[in-house]
Amino acid sequence: MSQELPYKLDGSGRLHGRVAVVTGSSSGMGRAIALAIGREGAHVVCSDLKAEAAQHGFEHDRAIPTHTVIANNGGKSAFQKCDMGKTEEIWSLIDFAVKEFGKLDILVNNAGLWLPLRDFVEETDEMWDAMMGINGKGCATSMRQAIKQFLRQPVDPKSGCRGRIVNISSSAGIVAIRREATYAASKAAVSMLTKNVALDHAKDAINVNAVCPGVVRTAMSSTNFNDPLIIAEMKKGTPWPRLGEPNDIANVVVFLLTDEAQWVTGQNIAVDGGFTVGIPL
Ligand SMILES: NC(=O)c1ccc[n+]([C@@H]2O[C@H](COP(=O)([O-])OP(=O)(O)OC[C@H]3O[C@@H](n4cnc5c(N)ncnc54)[C@H](O)[C@@H]3O)[C@@H](O)[C@H]2O)c1
Repeated sequence: MSQELPYKLDGSGRLHGRVAVVTGSSSGMGRAIALAIGREGAHVVCSDLKAEAAQHGFEHDRAIPTHTVIANNGGKSAFQKCDMGKTEEIWSLIDFAVKEFGKLDILVNNAGLWLPLRDFVEETDEMWDAMMGINGKGCATSMRQAIKQFLRQPVDPKSGCRGRIVNISSSAGIVAIRREATYAASKAAVSMLTKNVALDHAKDAINVNAVCPGVVRTAMSSTNFNDPLIIAEMKKGTPWPRLGEPNDIANVVVFLLTDEAQWVTGQNIAVDGGFTVGIPL
């Protein structure tokens, strides 16, 4: 057993029997989200470039792949490799979930690419294509495939919907942050897609929401977290007395997937210790 919190596999979990796909689930927030969904009784398709966690991350059990942690705790989980920059692999991911577990209830679009900080003039077309491709187009393609599957399924009388999507956007998609122009544009695309897709598919009883994290301690942000000067700046910009941890994000994602959140759709929910509220003095 490698998880501190108990797995609710007796039917009491808030996501009992739901089938979920989580992208970018090997590390950081995706891993925390996959584990949290698994703890609530969902069957989780973990997906990433590889099953192994990034070894420069902060998880104490990062030697064990996410799907193995869930299985070791008695949950149902499988891994399917998917590069979110490759359309065919995204199609295969959704197909895999349906073949493996018989349906699809939940898609969490968490995988993302952030390239280290620089002024806009130093960014390149290659960086634009990479970040817009994975963060923007990857999110759009997976939502479209998931919705095609949701539309083949009836409305679930318990959850009141055909399926739910949560996208992981960013506070960078809400406010401008120095030296993040292209990443911010790609996350603004995620946030706006969230609203538009929610609007198009509310009539189909499909919820689409986004969580916009602030500064969270993960492998992606480890270069920042290992630099005391950058961290001091990030702390100054975050009104709450501490920076974020992956579970801060996972807890809100789980809420958005519960039956209680049935009437929430099209929202970009900042989970950022107040980062986007205003200028802290
Ligand atoms: N860490 C932060 O401070 C922060 C803040 C705001 C938003 N975000 C967003 O949160 C999400 C999760 O990032 P994290 O901080 O947990 O980082 P992380 O590096 O810990 O995890 C990201 C995971 O995504 C995977 N990934 C990267 N490119 C992929 C691709 N093309 N296809 C499939 N998987 C891919 C990585 O292998 C990794 O396992 C990202 O979308 C990121 O942009 C992070």
